[in-house]
Amino acid sequence: MIHWDSFPKPVVALAPMADMSDLPFCLISKELGASLLFREMVSAEAVVRLNPKTLEMARFDEKERPLVQQIFGANPEVMAEAARIIEERYQPDGIDINMGCPVYNIVSNFNGASLIRDPERASRIIKQMRAAVRVPISVKTRLGWEKDTDCLEFVKVLEDAGASLISIHGRTKAQGYSGKANWDRVGEARKNTTLPLFVNGDITTTDLAKEALIRSGADGILIGRGALGNPWIFTHIEQGLVGNLIEPPSMAERLRVVRKHVSMHLARYGERGMPLFRKHLAYYFKKELKSENPHVDWTEIRSALVRVNSLQELEEIFKRIEGVN
Ligand SMILES: Cc1cc2nc3c(=O)[nH]c(=O)nc-3n(C[C@H](O)[C@H](O)[C@H](O)COP(=O)(O)O)c2cc1C
Repeated sequence: MIHWDSFPKPVVALAPMADMSDLPFCLISKELGASLLFREMVSAEAVVRLNPKTLEMARFDEKERPLVQQIFGANPEVMAEAARIIEERYQPDGIDINMGCPVYNIVSNFNGASLIRDPERASRIIKQMRAAVRVPISVKTRLGWEKDTDCLEFVKVLEDAGASLISIHGRTKAQGYSGKANWDRVGEARKNTTLPLFVNGDITTTDLAKEALIRSGADGILIGRGALGNPWIFTHIEQGLVGNLIEPPSMAERLRVVRKHVSMHLARYGERGMPLFRKHLAYYFKKELKSENPHVDWTEIRSALVRVNSLQELEEIFKRIEGVN
């Protein structure tokens, strides 16, 4: 159970990301300073059907706490039952409702961002989930469906229904990922609710975190894409916000973390795990790392990384980076 008052403020949390914020990446983010983790969304319908793969997705390691499991769905009874099942099996510290996903498959079923257009249904979902579980219920949403002012009334609906925390991505559903996150608008919504509120969208550096916090007046930030390939971001921002500048990770540190991440990833996903890990490798080695490693042909290394099939192949690539033959 999250004890909100005991959290160091501002909270610097990992945002939920499908296929990304899974158990291994959450553990890595936690080790590197994330103070709260939002697990990738799982389908409430699949949880209620006791789909083994979905239930396994929601399992977590005690070291990940405090951890919030996100679920998506549109039917209040199903959402409440899914929350109950997840609480009974795993006891996460909170359960989050996805009210922001813009993807067609989600919104066409009245899930995700669609709920912004159906406040009555959003309210019923929260109320029924509240009645079904003890853990706090939070909501992650966007500024609006088409209008970026929808959130100004929507946050009141969420609070009245019994949500304990709101996170807002500063874009509308119609925007998808285009344009820039509008942290000022999140700040206007902030004034319409007494709940703790997290600002989200485009926060990738300490300076941007400072600006987002000032402009939104939020209690915390959610970091999504900025953490991919860069889980050091949590400590960097936490320390940066109190005036401590931290050097970017050395190549040795980068390799240490990737080795740890891949070993946890393979332990979780087995044989098929390596192709799934390529997307993380593409992020970890995306940046131009030339200056620190002039002997490395990064174009060649990156093209090998996106084709890697086994841990042994990966180790060979790492040895080329380390300059060991
Ligand atoms: C690969 C990916 C998967 C995502 N999956 C989810 C999800 O499962 N639930 C959710 O609420 N948001 C999801 N999001 C949205 C992020 O949580 C976040 O709101 C968005 O990326 C903006 O924040 P950022 O600029 O820090 O990335 C996802 C984003 C990405 C890039």
